[in-house]
Amino acid sequence: MPEAPEKNLALDIVRITEAAALASARWLGRGDKTAGDNAAVQAMRIGFSTLNIDGTVVIGEGEKDNAPMLANGEKLGGGGDLALDVAVDPVEGTNLLAYGRPNAISVMAVSPRGSMFNPGPSFYMQKLVVGSGARDVVDIDAPVRVNLKNVAKALGKSVQDLIVFVLDKPRHQRLIEDIREAGARIQLQTDGDVIGALMAADPHSEVDIMMGTGGTPEGVLSACAVRGLGGQVLARLDPQSYVEKEAINEAGVDLREVLTVSNLVRSEDCFFAATGISGGDFLRGVRYSAGHAVTHSLVLRGKTGTLRYVESYHNMDRLSKFSAVQY
Ligand code: FBP
Repeated sequence: MPEAPEKNLALDIVRITEAAALASARWLGRGDKTAGDNAAVQAMRIGFSTLNIDGTVVIGEGEKDNAPMLANGEKLGGGGDLALDVAVDPVEGTNLLAYGRPNAISVMAVSPRGSMFNPGPSFYMQKLVVGSGARDVVDIDAPVRVNLKNVAKALGKSVQDLIVFVLDKPRHQRLIEDIREAGARIQLQTDGDVIGALMAADPHSEVDIMMGTGGTPEGVLSACAVRGLGGQVLARLDPQSYVEKEAINEAGVDLREVLTVSNLVRSEDCFFAATGISGGDFLRGVRYSAGHAVTHSLVLRGKTGTLRYVESYHNMDRLSKFSAVQY
């Protein structure tokens, strides 16, 4: 049955990531992780009251780093019949923001109630992300060189042409050696694997694949975007401490299970928005001029795969006269 266009919630939630980016960008390079995150959290909380949704936070950044939280289980939104799971990361890359490095972004996603993977006590997961061109050729259990060969073939490139996004962490030493041995190139970044996943899934970016272990919440957020882009996320919980491993075992979760993009978000009715805080190649950061600020965002609708880049010009003089958010 043909359908009339439905409401695109991504266009509502992008106002919230914009507000969080505007509030936290004031802390760029000032060395204070908590203040930047706090500013974004407050802006998001205020932004949520404008949404007529019955939202529950499933992914709330913070527990791992003791950051100010939009806590898991917290109710968000002004109410109504639209029952949604909410995933938020007010500042994805708190260190990137605090130390003035590129690629800090504000991110959120929503999907129907019960459709998002709940990380429970898991902080870390192994991830392999590719775009639609290579979605059927990757295998999280295959050797690195095999995945790279298959991705290169699917994309009509040689392995030497590929760029793999990897977080620059000691735990990735072996992975980095394997990628180098296979002959592929690497983009090593200290933080920010949501943007790594976005770049891997977007055929127009220079990154072809993301590999390695990062946050579980970030993995679910990434899946909401990658689902819209038609790519693949393969993931497996990868506890980084004995305590984390025991907690997962106690919760009865199978550490061997391979999750796909469709397990991480089990509905195509998902919506994703991200706004740049510090400038990067993929999303520009917040820029200020006399009386104005400019933000650059990406919004995605899972069902149609429509991807929009939104450049917004905010009149800070006017906003500051009435806005409850501290810009
Ligand atoms: P934060 O915004 O919580 O600082 O996360 C940044 C990040 O780099 C994520 O992109 C990534 O998934 C995770 O941290 C990796 O965790 P860790 O730095 O502990 O290895």
